[in-house]
Amino acid sequence: MASAAIQPYELYSDAPGFLLNKPEWEEANAAHPETFDFGKQPRGWPVKFTGPDVWTGDYLEKNSELYIKVLSHGEISEIDSAIKASLLASTLGSETVDSIKEPGEEFAISKSSITHLDPSQRGKIYVSAQDTNAQMYHSDAGGDIVGLMAVSLTGTGGISTVASAGQVYNHLVQHRPDIARLLAERKFRWRANGIPEDGVRLIHNQDNKVFLNFSTRTFIGYGELPDRDRDYPPLTFEEREAFGGWQWVAEQYSLKTQLEVGDIEWVNNLHHQHARRGFTEDISNPRHLLRVWLADSEHSPRLPADIKNKFDAMFESDPDFYPLDEIEEDQKRRETGVFTGSNANDH
Ligand SMILES: [Fe+2]
Repeated sequence: MASAAIQPYELYSDAPGFLLNKPEWEEANAAHPETFDFGKQPRGWPVKFTGPDVWTGDYLEKNSELYIKVLSHGEISEIDSAIKASLLASTLGSETVDSIKEPGEEFAISKSSITHLDPSQRGKIYVSAQDTNAQMYHSDAGGDIVGLMAVSLTGTGGISTVASAGQVYNHLVQHRPDIARLLAERKFRWRANGIPEDGVRLIHNQDNKVFLNFSTRTFIGYGELPDRDRDYPPLTFEEREAFGGWQWVAEQYSLKTQLEVGDIEWVNNLHHQHARRGFTEDISNPRHLLRVWLADSEHSPRLPADIKNKFDAMFESDPDFYPLDEIEEDQKRRETGVFTGSNANDH
């Protein structure tokens, strides 16, 4: 059953009237006098980042071989064999191979096989309450790479978008360097594991790359914690304008992807941010994406301390329950009333 028509993304805000939608950002931006001097880039930062992490959606769409890998039948057979071999090697034995009936389960295993997950290195899994609304650009809280696999897609919409933080920064330094300075130099505070009392900076310049891990949901509340933490002051207009600029410049340069069932999308969560369009779904067969947060134990880059502290806090102790997906997690939460994520104050 399709729900009401999807609102145009330009009019969307995660916090209407507070986080700026596109016309509100454009109005705020235009309110500055044309000759206003916004100053220079953040101290110690370049005027422009370059390299493979800096791209525009237009460029990638014209060069799809740079980011889309279509598996051949041979490669798919190889993955099938790997799934069967890994199950046969497990203590569950061969019956398990034949007992897989749920597509979600098989997808999860194939995704694990492709991404070479090491079960001994797993951290906590946090699954926030999801809805059909759009999302603004954000980082996910807990990993270098966000992996998504489309298990079921019904209805319309739900396009996945990704933007290069280096590209957003380059644009802002040209047009609104004050916003780049605010995000690079000001410390923002919120209550979450790994966030020190004096706060963290939101974008970082390290090894000639922009690193970031932030979400504006932190400042407005989301999911289990729909209200912002009132122990901290609300965002100022200047900060809201900065987030509006970041959001809509990210959208301007984003890569837009309509996933199909069976597609797996990996997004670098250290140098990019992602968002999503709103969608409709058939409630008898709801949209279902499996998500994992990954850290490459061999090739992960050196992280800025603000991000490292946050990630380390998520892996400090082992959880007692690993859901297969958000449906199993929701079920468990209903049964126990206990939320399984370690970072319930973070999003
Ligand atoms: Fe996300």
